[in-house]
Amino acid sequence: MKAIILCAGKGTRLRPLTYTTAKHLIPVANKPVILYTIEKIKSAGIKEIGIIVSPENRQDFMAALGDGSQYGVNLTYILQEEPKGLAHAVLMAKDFLGDEDFMMYLGDNLIMDDIRPFVKEFEEKKELSALIMLSPVQEPSRFGIAVMEGNKIIKTIEKPKEPPSNLAIIGLYLFRKDIFEGIANIKPSWRGELEITDAIDWLIQHKGTVEGHIIYGWWKDTGKPEDLIEANHKILDEIIEEFKIEGTVEASSVIQGRVSVGKNSEVVNSVIRGPVIIGDNCTISNAYIGPYTSIGNGVMIENCEIENSIVMDEVKISNLSFRIDSSVIGKKVEISENDGKPKGVQIIVGDLSKVIVSR
Ligand code: G1P
Repeated sequence: MKAIILCAGKGTRLRPLTYTTAKHLIPVANKPVILYTIEKIKSAGIKEIGIIVSPENRQDFMAALGDGSQYGVNLTYILQEEPKGLAHAVLMAKDFLGDEDFMMYLGDNLIMDDIRPFVKEFEEKKELSALIMLSPVQEPSRFGIAVMEGNKIIKTIEKPKEPPSNLAIIGLYLFRKDIFEGIANIKPSWRGELEITDAIDWLIQHKGTVEGHIIYGWWKDTGKPEDLIEANHKILDEIIEEFKIEGTVEASSVIQGRVSVGKNSEVVNSVIRGPVIIGDNCTISNAYIGPYTSIGNGVMIENCEIENSIVMDEVKISNLSFRIDSSVIGKKVEISENDGKPKGVQIIVGDLSKVIVSR
């Protein structure tokens, strides 16, 4: 079995972060989201992985992941020139996939459950054309939805206004080559895209061989900043087992709970309350770093407080009279306060940035 990871999306809801970083490469707990996906796929014994990229982000992915050998997988980059839908992305991968069964994974989805039983079920039920991972959700109209009869899916609907079920398609699908027959028989939807849900519906109607596999564990479509913060929280709580102090923690500092401090990083006169992960070459001084904070490499945090946040590489934060909370701070951002006159807030931010001040 092979796998494809769909990464050609533009990540509009994560702008401005996605102006410079593909959304799947945004770090959560100091690791790009897509690496969790690659590890999951590998855990199911799949090593041949196609990454579907766009012309804009192809270079970034190749630079970040290379040929995959350092992660124990073999990566092939497949170009999707235009965002014409998930089924269109599958078509682009036709040569790579050949006649093999394959897994399709939406690259921005984080799934905690063990996916091996899912793959095993598909391998055992040879009669199935597709097996689709589903999970009950609170807001079904935000997702593709499956209607079931026993284990069988009898209908899928993309983002229905009046959802007939609460079982969402969460971004992990197993297919055999007959999905290509489904894709060949569908037309672009109202939004001009070839929808995978339509191709699945074709399989349901013409072959009747599509089943759902329901999971109840935590998963997240990391499409919005608050999703990243929640995912960061979850991963610091549950995934990272090993917290290590490799840098220097000077004696006047207090480290509480599970805290990692990377190589060449220095913590001076600060309180760090875990779970917290701090990358390499950082300076943290006279600061409070509260729970569920991930700090990248080369970051300087001085005379200020921060918690429940993601701070990316080479950020500088200093001299703040307020605490930064539940924030996502992109690469090389600088935040500081001074006592110059006139009093006021000077803000230099790019398009679609967000600044929220609570008083
Ligand atoms: C896509 C799929 C949808 C699925 C969702 C899961 O939607 O089209 O069926 O439920 O991913 O995250 P998108 O997130 O691209 O709007």
